[in-house]
Amino acid sequence: MTIELKYLGHSAFRIKKDGVCILIDPFLEQNKEYDYKSENITDIFLTHGHGDHLGDAIKISVDKKATITAVYELANYCQSKKAKVLPISLGGWINYEWGRAIFLPAFHSSSTPDGHYAGCPAGILFEVDKIRIFHAGDTCLNSEMKVLKEVFKPHVAILPIGATYTMDIEQASIAAEWIGAKTVIPMHYNTFSAITADVEEFKKLVDAQNKQCMIVGVNQSVMF
Ligand code: NI
Ligand code: MN
Repeated sequence: MTIELKYLGHSAFRIKKDGVCILIDPFLEQNKEYDYKSENITDIFLTHGHGDHLGDAIKISVDKKATITAVYELANYCQSKKAKVLPISLGGWINYEWGRAIFLPAFHSSSTPDGHYAGCPAGILFEVDKIRIFHAGDTCLNSEMKVLKEVFKPHVAILPIGATYTMDIEQASIAAEWIGAKTVIPMHYNTFSAITADVEEFKKLVDAQNKQCMIVGVNQSVMF
């Protein structure tokens, strides 16, 4: 079965398979082309509460009756705004009809745009049809990434490379090595001037590790 991974810009992605449609960190205000209204979205995942990740999640949840899975404090915040939520924390696999997901550590902070504490930030590993896709959220390089390689063995790693708030291209290339995924996709770069990155240079660093770095354009998809 083919899984379609679509880049919606910044850290936002859509995973689609048959009737399943999942959004991750749906910050969509800079993507005029993507219209969630025509989609059958069942689940939304949030890595943390910052505005460039929470994005339009609450609005989409209310409109589509889609469930937001997020760390407890962030989920409760979304629920207070009428979203449908599944509060979780870093821990074990969470099962869904389409597969499963697990929340893992990210080294960052997490608050909502209006200043509420939003619990701990996370990276999220998805397993759909035995394909494992890791979305790192916002994070610095950290040795927990070695646990990903040892225990979870993701096939695809989606990594922030824009620096200032996350890893830069050099650290992200080390993260790629530590996580061990054969396919690496950069995110969280060039949306704002503070996160400008040389993505072609990142690709060189990753490809030199005998991996495949896929630079996915906004509204473009890759298939697994
Ligand atoms: Ni952030
Ligand atoms: Mn961010």
